[in-house]
Amino acid sequence: PIVKDLFGLTELEERIRSHFGLKQVVIVPGDSDASPHTKKELGRAGAAVLRKLVAEDETIAVTGGSTMAEVAYHLAATTSLKGCWFVPARGGLGESLELQANTIASTMAKKTGARYRLLHVPDHLGEEAYQSLMQDDSIAEIIQFIRRARMVVHGIGEAMVMARRRKVDRETTEILRQDGALAEAFGYYFDRQGNILHKMPTVGLRIEDIHQMDAVIGIAGGKSKGEAIVSVLRHGHEDVLITDEAAALEIVHHL
Ligand code: F6P
Repeated sequence: PIVKDLFGLTELEERIRSHFGLKQVVIVPGDSDASPHTKKELGRAGAAVLRKLVAEDETIAVTGGSTMAEVAYHLAATTSLKGCWFVPARGGLGESLELQANTIASTMAKKTGARYRLLHVPDHLGEEAYQSLMQDDSIAEIIQFIRRARMVVHGIGEAMVMARRRKVDRETTEILRQDGALAEAFGYYFDRQGNILHKMPTVGLRIEDIHQMDAVIGIAGGKSKGEAIVSVLRHGHEDVLITDEAAALEIVHHL
């Protein structure tokens, strides 16, 4: 708290919290874009919030990405998480193995002594492939299991950065750009006002599942992500934001 007050972070937390009507905002000092140490602290803060907010025997859906990987790294065996299940929020999403939601979910489970279930399907499918996968009993069952999650912990990225990282084709990327895509979270792209752009048949949590959750926890930092974070907050379904000082300053700049 002493360090926070020195930087005026408590005030910044309250300003963002009240503006977006969030339950909690946690800001760590620094800029994750410039400092790996700050990103680690972001991960540590995320792990602490998760430990604190989790209910007994809860199913926790998680997304992938390097920030979520830091959260996983900072989790440790705790009784509060022992009876829980970690599941990926979505399918493959075109991330490399160490950044995939499946990997993060299994790492979190192993570190905390919880259990996990995985979803072994690519995320973006054509309508036909989607329908036939849904006919498969074991896939339908795990998807039902994931949709029962009451808590989701997720990263937030810049739309164009994520489109490139996932090797989204040129045409789709151009449409996203023209439509003003600024942010990406749980497989959806958001514009400045927080509207979702282009819906695709998806495997895993749908946006309506996320809207119905008890706890939606976003974790993202770095000056470059400030605007993207604002877009996702404007969508209006976040409960908790964990970010860093540089992103927080950008956020208030864009209010
Ligand atoms: O692909 C999973 C994901 O959580 C995205 O939804 C998000 O935009 C991105 O990762 C964030 O990744 P990073 O923490 O590496 O910036």
